[in-house]
Amino acid sequence: MRHFLTLKDFTKEEILEIIEIGLNIKKNLKSNIYNKELENQTLGMIFEKSSTRTRVSFETGMFQLGGHALFLSNRDIHLGRGEPVRDTARVISSMTDMVMIRTFEHSMIEEFASYSKVPVINGLTDSFHPVQLLADYMTLVEHNASENIICAYIGDGNNMAHSWMILAAKLGFELRIATPKGYEVDENILQIALDLAKQSGAKIITTNDPKIAVKGASVVTTDTWTSMGQEDEKEQRIKIFKGFMVDDTMMQLAKQNALFLHCLPAYRGLEVSESVFEKHSKVVFNEAENRLHAQKGLMVWLDKHR
Ligand code: CP
Ligand code: NVA
Repeated sequence: MRHFLTLKDFTKEEILEIIEIGLNIKKNLKSNIYNKELENQTLGMIFEKSSTRTRVSFETGMFQLGGHALFLSNRDIHLGRGEPVRDTARVISSMTDMVMIRTFEHSMIEEFASYSKVPVINGLTDSFHPVQLLADYMTLVEHNASENIICAYIGDGNNMAHSWMILAAKLGFELRIATPKGYEVDENILQIALDLAKQSGAKIITTNDPKIAVKGASVVTTDTWTSMGQEDEKEQRIKIFKGFMVDDTMMQLAKQNALFLHCLPAYRGLEVSESVFEKHSKVVFNEAENRLHAQKGLMVWLDKHR
């Protein structure tokens, strides 16, 4: 049995296989052919943070695959009142076929997985957001932008930056991450990515200068400057991140026809300008829709590997 906690535990071939399954299921869905691989199965979805895309995509995805999803907010289950993670894991995994968790510390999901009888999927932790990267890469494939990637990530050294690093390191492409001083990516995760990059040929560069990162990039991406749980730092972050907005001037430094991606929710006038966002909105909303298709690919893959 496999869990999907970070992309670290998956080979390049496995990542591409998950995306391939997702793309096939997407193609079928567009022709009104429903894949029912997960008939009678149940997905438990534990949310300790807010969500629009993750909830809707997993719930809809599980339904379309013939199964059922349970939305379990920590406000409503005993986990939020102090029932230990290891007990919650043993109970929920005894009744469901798969579990998706969105939480704060990555160690919580690791502990849950170590006690779980069923595959556990990371729906975002403070450290990683791997399901988002499946959708992002699927979007690059669909837009014929998955060869010779030079990706510029501009903004906070957060869960999205970390997940981009692991994806680049696994697939072997060039990633340049520009963050303000003091908001760099986690040193340990960077080291893991750099070690993996030695095998794959990936090039991972970190800088405090967005211009260096974006010059000649084929993909430009960013994320909110204030992640969930950091709301108290918002005002301070807006001041510090000045100069890191992806705007038209910045996009002009990238390759002509460079793609812009954003995991959403997007804050116009902060990490991205209104103009860049709207010019690229068709791709960005396809990226959001691809959460549904990529995660269906993932759930089918995890089910096959138990
Ligand atoms: N991108 C993403 O995970 O969105 P939600 O927070 O709305 O789930
Ligand atoms: N970095 C953001 C991603 C939201 C999908 C957060 O953790 O809030």
